[in-house]
Amino acid sequence: METTHSFDHYAVMGYPISHSRSPGIHHLFAEQSKQHIVYSAILVEPGDFSNAVAAFQSQGGKGLNVTIPYKEEAWSLVNQRSARAEKAGAVNTIMLRQDGSLYGDNTDGIGLVNDLTKNQSFSLKNKKILILGAGGAVKGILQPILIENPAQIVIANRTPDKALTLAKQYAEIDDTCPVIGMGFDEIPKQLFDIVINGTSSSLTGHIPDIKAELVNNAFCYDMMYGKEATTFMQWCMKHNASNVSDGLGMLIEQAAAAFYVWRNVQPDTRPVITRIRSTI
Ligand code: ATR
Repeated sequence: METTHSFDHYAVMGYPISHSRSPGIHHLFAEQSKQHIVYSAILVEPGDFSNAVAAFQSQGGKGLNVTIPYKEEAWSLVNQRSARAEKAGAVNTIMLRQDGSLYGDNTDGIGLVNDLTKNQSFSLKNKKILILGAGGAVKGILQPILIENPAQIVIANRTPDKALTLAKQYAEIDDTCPVIGMGFDEIPKQLFDIVINGTSSSLTGHIPDIKAELVNNAFCYDMMYGKEATTFMQWCMKHNASNVSDGLGMLIEQAAAAFYVWRNVQPDTRPVITRIRSTI
């Protein structure tokens, strides 16, 4: 006898949204773990985010991912937040609870940490970390990186004040790991174990204006991804990086962490990374 299942509905909301890989990734997780879900991409016009969430909720939706430009608005909208979302000031995962309340989490940072530690066997413990950029993408990753007990975090940004302000918010969290902010031309000439590009410069084919010696012998990670190595990755390879990676693994790991929040099931990300990589 054939069994019928009801499908729980999830979605990603953003503007634009047609490029989103989240539906494909979550359907692969669901297929692999035999979860019955439907996951759609919803284009939300500017000014319409809270209405769109309410409409999704009234249709019985169970969970949402939130992408650019609504992560900060999602943070304000939810009734309760995880500690990592609280600190990031942005929410990328919402659980729509049965009592009508909204729980907000941010899985971007744990996505990066899991990609580094699990997929790339790169531990952040006692490491000297240079982070480029001080926008929304970087805000989301700092707390989960600090939990890994690095030795030092330098945040450098084209607009130095933004890096200084961001670093100050984290400077006193863990007194064993200094967090300092500065402009690109003030970055100390020292060896960094890892350089993380959290700027959006690769989107326009640019690279952050830093000295080439800073990537010498460092693991260079670009949070962007594409079919080819990003411009930042290519530049780092040319300047003797020990290893380079794009951010596709981070994208899939943040999705896996969201899937876990909603379904309490941990997807096996490796085959999904391979599959999605073959389609970009
Ligand atoms: P996101 O949410 O992707 O982080 P954002 O909040 O607009 O987007 O931040 C973009 C980041 O990329 C900023 O740190 C920005 O630097 P500024 O604060 O000086 O604007 C950085 N960025 C964008 N293009 C860049 C470029 N060509 N070179 C260096 N940094 C760049």
